[in-house]
Amino acid sequence: MRVAINGMGRIGRLIFRRLFNDPAIELVAVNDIMDPQNLLYLLKYDSVYGTFPDELTLAAGNTINGRCPVRVLQNPQPVTLPWKELEVDVVIESSGRFSSRVAAGEHLLAGARKVLLSTTGSDDIPLMIYGFNQAGISKDTDIISPGGCMTNCSVHLLYILNAIGIETAQLHFLHSYTSRQELVDAPHKEYRRGRAAAESIIPVPIDLHHSLERVMPGLKGKLLSLSTRIPVANGAMADFTVQLSREASVQEINKLFRVAAAGEYKGILDYTDEELVSLDYKGNTHSCVVDGSLTSVVGRHLKLIAWFDNEYGFTSRMIDWLHYWKASGF
Ligand SMILES: NC(=O)c1ccc[n+]([C@@H]2O[C@H](COP(=O)([O-])OP(=O)(O)OC[C@H]3O[C@@H](n4cnc5c(N)ncnc54)[C@H](OP(=O)(O)O)[C@@H]3O)[C@@H](O)[C@H]2O)c1
Repeated sequence: MRVAINGMGRIGRLIFRRLFNDPAIELVAVNDIMDPQNLLYLLKYDSVYGTFPDELTLAAGNTINGRCPVRVLQNPQPVTLPWKELEVDVVIESSGRFSSRVAAGEHLLAGARKVLLSTTGSDDIPLMIYGFNQAGISKDTDIISPGGCMTNCSVHLLYILNAIGIETAQLHFLHSYTSRQELVDAPHKEYRRGRAAAESIIPVPIDLHHSLERVMPGLKGKLLSLSTRIPVANGAMADFTVQLSREASVQEINKLFRVAAAGEYKGILDYTDEELVSLDYKGNTHSCVVDGSLTSVVGRHLKLIAWFDNEYGFTSRMIDWLHYWKASGF
């Protein structure tokens, strides 16, 4: 499978690092608007995940040495990218700029066979959460939205809890800051996103509940969501407050997740009773890790806490998608 990445930010670079030595995938090109030497530097040195152990050099023709040479492109317009010439099977669209069907479709017009977004795209792109509804893919599916990190965490938690029954749920995420905020106070159309990211606890509205209703229509009208950005560079904690349809004990709730983690959800969802903090989840490959030590109930009112690495966990699902696509012969 020949793969290209468009948008070499946090997600694009982490996927690069993880595909660089993957024998099942040929990473053939990366594209961003930044200078290629600057990209090489950012691929090598990462403030969250440390220094990349392999030597990375930029050879003639702007290719990075690798198992197969990786062409480095610097082009802002997907439709003009050389995907046909490079025989690209899948473009990972991780610039965050091309997530509607028309915009992401530019990669198809440029010659790629499939596009895998790195976010929840517009409603006309199938929203497929790995570990939940990936079997709904067909050979004709040409653009997939795999959801975002919060969607990938929430779907499994809600689906499993729905075995008991969910009347309503408030989904709150404490989430590390991202490039969609400002480092120092600056103008922003969402005022709070324009406040210094490492200085404050910053609530930002999200429409996660809308995405979740798309894949779990039975929960329509029962969910609301909010994200609060916190002054750390990596990591996230889901804090769900759920009104259950019936009373359930902490033991019953935790057992549901412990069993799911050891069985059907192995590799996707995990469970722990250990008293850990966000840094301990850096590099964790799961979409979420339920923290049983923090589960609490009062009457039918449940508080459920789960952790995830918003970058590493999410890119693990993106890579699962590539392998799944390859194995199913797309
Ligand atoms: N970070 C996370 O935790 C996370 C988790 C899950 C999903 N996601 C999603 O993944 C997407 C990317 O997030 P990110 O955190 O990786 O963002 P990011 O660090 O800002 O990366 C985006 C990259 O794309 C580049 N870019 C901008 N315009 C481009 C163009 N026309 N063509 C090619 N590249 C272009 C950006 O350059 P400039 O910086 O110069 O604009 C930047 O290098 C977003 O949709 C986000 O919601 C992020």
